[in-house]
Amino acid sequence: MEIKRVAVLGAGLMGHGIAQVCAQVGKFDVTVRDIEQRFIDSGMKMIQDSIQRFVKKGAISESDAKETLARIHSTLDLKEAVQDADLVIEAITENPPLKKSVLAEVDKYAPSHAIIASNTSSISITEIGAATKRPEKVCGMHFFNPPQLMKLIEIIRGLKTADETVETIRQVSLKLGKEPVVVKKDTPGFIVNRILIPALNEAAFLVAEGVADPEDIDKACTLGLNWPMGPLKLLDYVGIDTTLFITDVMVNETGDPKFRPSNLLKQMVRANLLGRKTGRGFYDWTEK
Ligand code: 3HC
Repeated sequence: MEIKRVAVLGAGLMGHGIAQVCAQVGKFDVTVRDIEQRFIDSGMKMIQDSIQRFVKKGAISESDAKETLARIHSTLDLKEAVQDADLVIEAITENPPLKKSVLAEVDKYAPSHAIIASNTSSISITEIGAATKRPEKVCGMHFFNPPQLMKLIEIIRGLKTADETVETIRQVSLKLGKEPVVVKKDTPGFIVNRILIPALNEAAFLVAEGVADPEDIDKACTLGLNWPMGPLKLLDYVGIDTTLFITDVMVNETGDPKFRPSNLLKQMVRANLLGRKTGRGFYDWTEK
């Protein structure tokens, strides 16, 4: 199936970047939808800033930048966003009841041929698919932060996802200049988060146990493992709340205590020390 029009639900940390990549690299006509104008404004500002970075280093021209922005429309109205879409990419907050109710609505308004892909980092794709009457056209399409730069897309099959849906999303991912991998089973954390989240959690345990300072833990991983960012900086970058949410899903879904979250992560969420987005997490981001 040929995809021409994409609707992106959510203009936040991931949604804005996904919309940008779809317009800038995929050359798709994109409509971004969020629930309040201020979220759309902040998403569009992040898109403009990011596009300017590409222009500054000569990766794209001024006219490419203009054309990219012209391909991105925004709306507060869900029906308007999805009614002509061939592909809906959902990137709203990781709240299962909310996701399911939004996707049930998308199912009502989107054309019957449209594929619904979720950027969830941990919620079951089978469960998300079951909120619609087209589970065969629902799959996971998991981008990595920042979506403008990170090359990977995990495509996740739910129990009822059709082969054709996976193949269409694989083609779209290639068109976006990404490298797709197919996650054949709908398992908590998929591939990357199954490995990453326990590592980030373990770094929080090290801090809580006073084994080393956050700066030294990060230095150890950047210099000892060649990670581009240490685990605590990455925790701040991804969001402490998001990380805690994923560990909770992994514990609850698998029942395996090896995924149990560090108490420090819970306390930080209670204290609103969520990382970059609230200005403080393991590091102070207010100056940056
Ligand atoms: N848009 C456009 N360009 C951007 C950008 C953006 N949003 N963010 C950074 N850049 C560009 C900068 O302009 C700079 O370009 P230049 O090298 O040509 O000057 C380049 O990227 C490097 O940026 P910085 O110098 O600001 O910072 P870094 O060198 O630290 O790179 C990074 C930033 C690419 C984010 C790098 O630190 C990195 O790869 N970090 C790890 C990211 C990661 O692991 N992401 C996955 C998280 S897990 C996830 O998303 C899954 C979820 O489910 C939890």
